[in-house]
Amino acid sequence: MPELTLRDILLTAALLAGFAAVGSGLVAWVHDSTEARIADNRMAVNRSRIAQLTGDVAYHNDPVTDTTQLEHELLGNSSLPAWFARDRDGEIVAVVLSAIASDGYSGDIHLLIGIRHDGKLLGVRVSSHRETPGLGDAIEAERSDWIHSFTGRSLGDPPADHWAVRKDGGVFDQFTGATITPRAVVRAVRRALEYFDHHRDELLATPPAEAGSIVEPLPPSGGNAEDEAR
Ligand SMILES: Cc1cc2nc3c(=O)[nH]c(=O)nc-3n(C[C@H](O)[C@H](O)[C@H](O)COP(=O)(O)O)c2cc1C
Repeated sequence: MPELTLRDILLTAALLAGFAAVGSGLVAWVHDSTEARIADNRMAVNRSRIAQLTGDVAYHNDPVTDTTQLEHELLGNSSLPAWFARDRDGEIVAVVLSAIASDGYSGDIHLLIGIRHDGKLLGVRVSSHRETPGLGDAIEAERSDWIHSFTGRSLGDPPADHWAVRKDGGVFDQFTGATITPRAVVRAVRRALEYFDHHRDELLATPPAEAGSIVEPLPPSGGNAEDEAR
């Protein structure tokens, strides 16, 4: 076997280094281009989810980029994103709050709650949960109309002592053989309305976020079911 010269070794090393550089360049290029596309797609999905949660309220900003983080025990004690819809003058006409119901049957139920500036509910969706299929998952808009029973409600409608499932003397249906899940969602929506009521002035005075300062996308898929936009 011929002996390898220093020249051969250097040449091989240079070739390997060249392949490695081209390979990593390619990987970086693919990563950059797909990352931008994934971010665009996620923004589009989030935009359509926010549109579902703002009902027929007209707005002229892009709420996906008009966002902040909120943390409060009434919202579930985690730092969670909220989005603002504004009219032509920049006034906030609706807010989409995130909230967590931690008293579900199987852990946290993540909610998105659209509230008009006057405290009227525009829409509620479950963004992730781990409730039992066939029992607790009727909270999903895909599986039943139940979640739509919040639309048009507000803190005074029904009165506070009726903001509960029927079994607890309230106006919201429970599910057959499954009261824990809807009870948790009703409570979380009511708490989010209380949060909005207590913080309405400061929320509605939030200045527009700088374009592009997207705090966080809507919660990622999780659990066994998602709202219909997922
Ligand atoms: C395996 C299993 C899974 C269940 N999953 C749920 C569920 O996801 N959501 C729920 O509300 N109840 C679920 N239940 C029923 C609850 O234990 C409870 O009986 C029901 O919510 C009725 O509550 P209530 O007695 O307060 O009316 C499940 C029960 C079993 C045995």
